[in-house]
Amino acid sequence: MDMLHIRPRPGQGVYVFEFPVRIWHWTMALAVFALFITGHFIGKPLHTLSGGADDLFYLGYTIMAHYIAAFILIIGMVCRIIWAFFGNAASRQIFLPRVWDKDWWADLKSDIKWYLFLSKEPRIHMGHNPLAQLGMGVCVLDIVLMCLTGLGIYQSKTGDEFFHLFRFVQDFAYWTGGNVIDLVVWHRIGMVILVAFVILHLYMVIREELMGQTTLISTMVSGFRLVRAAKTAKESAKRQ
Ligand code: HEM
Ligand code: HEM
Repeated sequence: MDMLHIRPRPGQGVYVFEFPVRIWHWTMALAVFALFITGHFIGKPLHTLSGGADDLFYLGYTIMAHYIAAFILIIGMVCRIIWAFFGNAASRQIFLPRVWDKDWWADLKSDIKWYLFLSKEPRIHMGHNPLAQLGMGVCVLDIVLMCLTGLGIYQSKTGDEFFHLFRFVQDFAYWTGGNVIDLVVWHRIGMVILVAFVILHLYMVIREELMGQTTLISTMVSGFRLVRAAKTAKESAKRQ
């Protein structure tokens, strides 16, 4: 039986998120926060600094920090995609929601009701619930698009030999009738979508941690998921 379908006994932890998934999640979260802040100031620089540009070099450092966080994000994303081929069943959930499975749709319906306060108890999931899978899938797709548009803009600025690989992103912008400026606009719209995801994500994980039937944030730290004692006691009473 795969780990996603285990029903644990009281006190029994199920190992859900392997080390590469956890380290990727927290590194990516830090990189994304750094990219939000530096990206915002690249687009809307402060105008009230006193001192010569040569001495301050403030925008230069901001852009440098953006690039460092960007390449951490890109390398992390590539490693995470590779890990989906080698990791456990939970490591593939955000890339491949089981939309062909009838039970997946039933779980999705029940999750939506739970988040709309229309049901009293959520179903227990060892991996991500279907709604989380969809949200996180969109988040990952958005991050990939941010990397591509970012690399397209980067190529136009540096002209570095290696980054000619990403000329195709600029070609795509020209093909749509636009130019590199459109890439910058798409890059910013991508950020707005990601900010919206992070706000919802934080709301949902904190709410689920407090009101749901399983551990969540500690699971993303230690890898182990525990079902709350009250629920496991009820389940085991049913089984006896
Ligand atoms: C979560 C991911 C990211 C966010 C939220 C983000 C956000 C932003 C924002 C808001 C801007 C300013 C756009 C404007 O002028 O209005 C920007 C600029 C830029 N970003 Fe990103 N970015 C991300 C990832 C990346 C990645 C992966 C790269 C790849 C190298 C990248 C490369 C660039 C470049 C080259 C610029 C233009 C810098 C300049 O004008 O000199 N970004 N980013
Ligand atoms: C920029 C910020 C963040 C982004 C883009 C983000 C994105 C994601 C993604 C893509 C996943 C799926 C992981 C996978 O299956 O590989 C995930 C899971 C998770 N994230 Fe975040 N995250 C962010 C910040 C946070 C923060 C600050 C917390 C803690 C308060 C958090 C808590 C969690 C938890 C608990 C899970 C697992 C949820 C579950 O068990 O179903 N995340 N996040």
